[in-house]
Parts: sequence; structure tokens; C-alpha cells
Amino acid sequence: MLAKQFVDLDKALHDRDSFDCGEPELNTFIRQFAAKHMQAGISRTMVLPSKQKLANGKYPICAFYTVAPSAIRRQTLPPHLSKKLPHYPVPVFLLAQLAVSLNYQGQGLGKITLIQSLEYLWRVNQYLTAYAVVVDCLNDSAKNFYQVFGFELLDEDNLKTRLFLSLKTIEQLFNP
Ligand SMILES: CC(C)(COP(=O)(O)OP(=O)(O)OC[C@H]1O[C@@H](n2cnc3c(N)ncnc32)[C@H](O)[C@@H]1OP(=O)(O)O)[C@@H](O)C(=O)NCCC(=O)NCCS
Repeated sequence: MLAKQFVDLDKALHDRDSFDCGEPELNTFIRQFAAKHMQAGISRTMVLPSKQKLANGKYPICAFYTVAPSAIRRQTLPPHLSKKLPHYPVPVFLLAQLAVSLNYQGQGLGKITLIQSLEYLWRVNQYLTAYAVVVDCLNDSAKNFYQVFGFELLDEDNLKTRLFLSLKTIEQLFNP
């Protein structure tokens, strides 16, 4: 049984060690860095806990996402979009991490987690505006997942592909 909503990661309440999404980099992030980064004020991690407590008194994490402010160079955008933007860094929201526990993959929770993260950033955008949401994809599978939801190519290097979805498009999702 899943909790009804995503909440701020709380290491006293949420069992980070048992989280496994099948991607070592994301497992390490939630286990070792997410709470530290929140404490340092550089990103925010929201988790969807299970309702069932473990023997250690904590709740397993079923899915999580991590967001942070960031910026991109306008040249990385397709020319028809970049020419309307200034030459200084363009503000964006980074969807830095997103993962679903192996126990829940393939049941629609990735889609729910992505929509929740975009809704969260859409709300933030009402106070402090940004051009787009950007994601760094660890592999082709992650890239394919985001492209299903309309994310487009921003740039790629040997290690990661960056995709983006404009806040104008996201606005249409939540405020049609
Ligand atoms: C990628 C991930 C978040 C998907 O979560 P999930 O719960 O399995 O996905 P869902 O069941 O919600 O799938 C939603 C839709 O996306 C599609 N989808 C899911 N994973 C996909 C993938 N890798 N490639 C293409 N489409 C995918 C599903 O077919 C489904 O389509 P539908 O709505 O038409 O049926 C999950 O597999 C995961 O956590 N993987 C490891 C970490 C990772 O790679 N995170 C990505 C950020 S770098």
C-alpha cells in the first residue's frame, strides 16, 4: 500500500537503504546523498513512502524525485527556440533524479512520479519562473521513458543525454 502523496525525504522516517530501482547510481544517490544535499540546500527530494512500516520503524520508499534550480546555454536549444532568448544563462529547473523501486516498476508509478514532479515545478514556476524542465538521462532506457512524455533533445555527450520540456508546454498540462 502506497501513501497518498509525495513528501519531503526525512531520513528519520524513510528507509533509504532498502531502496532499489536497479540503477546503482540512483540507489547510491537516495541512500547517501539526497538527504545531505537537502540539508546543504542544493536540491530537494520528494519521496512516496509505503504505508507499511519495516521492522526498523521506518517506511520503505516506493518512488522519489529530486529537483534543483539550474541554467543552460541558449545555444543548446534548437535554433527556432534559442533565437528568442538572451545570451546570458537561461534559467531552468533540473529534474535531477527520478526513480521507482523495482517492486513497483511497470505499474504506472513512473508516470505518476513524473507528473507529480512536473506539477511541483509548475507550482514553483508561478513564483520564480524558468524556461524549461531539464533531465539528464543515465541511459537509453531513461531517454526513451522521458521521450514518451514529450521531452526533446537538448544536448548529449559521451556520458549523458539531456532532454527538456518547456514550462509553456507544462503549463498547458496543468492549466489548460
Ligand atoms: C524509468 C522508470 C522511472 C519507469 O518507471 P515505471 O514505473 O516502470 O514506468 P510506468 O509503469 O509508469 O510507465 C509509464 C509509461 O512509460 C513507458 N515506459 C516505462 N519505462 C520506459 C522506458 N524505459 N522506455 C520507454 N517507455 C517506458 C511505459 O510503457 C508506460 O507507457 P503507457 O503509459 O503507454 O503504458 C523506472 O523504470 C526506473 O526507476 N528505472 C531506473 C531508474 C531510471 O532509469 N530513472 C530515470 C531517470 S535517469
